[in-house]
Amino acid sequence: MIAPRLYVDSADLAAVSALLADSLVHGVTTNPTILERAGRTVAEIPELYARWVEEGAREVFFQAWGADASALEERARAILALGDRAVVKVPATRAGFGVAARLAREGAPVLLTAVFTPAQALAAASSGIRYLAAYLGRMRDAGFDAVSDIARMQAACGGSGSEVLAASLRSPEDVVELAEARVPAFTAAPAVLEAMLAHPATVDAADAFEASPSLRA
Ligand code: G3P
Repeated sequence: MIAPRLYVDSADLAAVSALLADSLVHGVTTNPTILERAGRTVAEIPELYARWVEEGAREVFFQAWGADASALEERARAILALGDRAVVKVPATRAGFGVAARLAREGAPVLLTAVFTPAQALAAASSGIRYLAAYLGRMRDAGFDAVSDIARMQAACGGSGSEVLAASLRSPEDVVELAEARVPAFTAAPAVLEAMLAHPATVDAADAFEASPSLRA
């Protein structure tokens, strides 16, 4: 079993910087909605890429957009041209599948996003697409047996180089449950990642250490 990798799903500069500075995440994932929530636009993508690489991100994900395959591909190539830590996200629409598979065949790092079924995952793995993003919370909201379906997606990747990168994670327990199902990569909002680090019993234990008379030299 490979080591799990955590990513931060946010464009909130302070929150992302704090996690990168402490080496707690492997990289940063975004999409147009995440940029919007942070009051950013796609015009700032080059600046955000440079900032997060400088802060230590090993992978930085931005999403291509466009009404047809040629618009999507043009933007995807512009994102890849940012540098060797850029990963391009492409939605798993029919047009997106074609663009993602074409880029993957050239050896580019691609993530197919909004994957909802094991069949989509199998098709992505067959095309050599590096990552597929499954949305746990949204799948649950839509009535899917989400953990089991995402486990089947990872199984569908078999021994290929494709991996599930789970998203729409709403609690620390979501991450742990998927890790138990052999999902290797996770992206979550800063609040979920911070909640993963914290427990009141840890604070009590640390307070007791600090209060120990043995510290009085
Ligand atoms: O990266 C996926 C994320 O943006 C979706 O999360 O919480 O809006 O379902 P959520």
